[in-house]
Amino acid sequence: MQLDEEDASKLVLKVSGNKIAKRTSKIYRKQVPKLPVNIFGKTFANPVGLAPGLDKDGLALTTFSNFGFGFIEVGTVTPLPQSGNPRPRVFRIVEDEAIVNRLGFNNNGLRKFEINLRHTLKSPLPSLIGINIGANQFSAKDDAIKDYVRGLEAFYLLADYIVINISSPNTKGLRDLQLKGEFEKLLSVVMEKRLKLASNHDSGKTPISIKVAPDLEQQDLLALVEVALQYEVDAITATNSTIMRPSSLTHKNYDQSGGLSGRPLAPISNRIIQMISEITQGSIPIIGVGGVSSAEDAWQKFLCGADLVQLCSALVYTGPTIVKNIVVGLADRAKKYDALNFSSAVKLAREQQNRAGPYSP
Ligand code: FNR
Repeated sequence: MQLDEEDASKLVLKVSGNKIAKRTSKIYRKQVPKLPVNIFGKTFANPVGLAPGLDKDGLALTTFSNFGFGFIEVGTVTPLPQSGNPRPRVFRIVEDEAIVNRLGFNNNGLRKFEINLRHTLKSPLPSLIGINIGANQFSAKDDAIKDYVRGLEAFYLLADYIVINISSPNTKGLRDLQLKGEFEKLLSVVMEKRLKLASNHDSGKTPISIKVAPDLEQQDLLALVEVALQYEVDAITATNSTIMRPSSLTHKNYDQSGGLSGRPLAPISNRIIQMISEITQGSIPIIGVGGVSSAEDAWQKFLCGADLVQLCSALVYTGPTIVKNIVVGLADRAKKYDALNFSSAVKLAREQQNRAGPYSP
């Protein structure tokens, strides 16, 4: 019997969550050099993270952390459990190292996630933890905002940062929350809630990032970033998977509806990162994601304006050694700039590139 894509991933996740995997995976972390970066008041052991999608219930954080990621983002988790869209809903396109998925936030809900996370964090992890929160499929628009508030409440003290995912293409109406009026409404409620939580817990403000789609029109992206700056969000994550299908792609699976990720997404997400960077002028961090499968891909994202990078699809195709390969390659590139640290090297590289003329991803 051959497993479909989703069953194969579930099996990998189940194995990754067991004790032997937790122990043996430590060999990967040992091979990853330190390349620290400081973003929103936290030190990341290196700037390469796992993007959400593979571990929606927080079942294998220890193993993913042991792969050597500087940070791992898990979810998307919604308040109530939900099964997502009908199967099949994950499609690989091996020759392009791409994936099309229309999972639709299948997850066991916030309570189970919280239990898994508390259990895992009994032994602290070397990677920082981001929790990616979403709205249930059947939440009406007003309830969608409540769903984000519930996620924020649940993970406020557990996460190193929280991501508001309003860019999944697989939950009807979700992406509308990116549009100016809706986004303002969402942020005003979420940021006020965060203030209350900080005061109630007598804690600092848990950083919040907004994850955006690569398919936004330029003026909508501009409006979104301006609102994000106005409400002082801590970071922007760019990007989620795309509903576009570049014309060069020919495999039959490209006709499947859903979000496209992996290699073909890289130039699309790089353009969005560059646009955001031009608007923000470095005033808030950008977490760059989309088609990173090598050190050069990651470096291009830094040149476009990213402060951290993430990957998801390439882990499926390449396996855990990808983290070491990327971090080593980034460290090598940074060395050429004789800078104090990685982020300073990136700054110098960007300046050098700007002097050479406009960069086109
Ligand atoms: C994803 N992605 C995703 N993103 C998110 O914010 N919440 C989610 O639940 C998921 N789920 C998901 C499932 C699968 C199977 C894939 C492949 C992707 C998107 C992911 O985090 C990332 O933004 C994109 O995949 C682009 O990165 P890569 O895959 O090109 O490195």
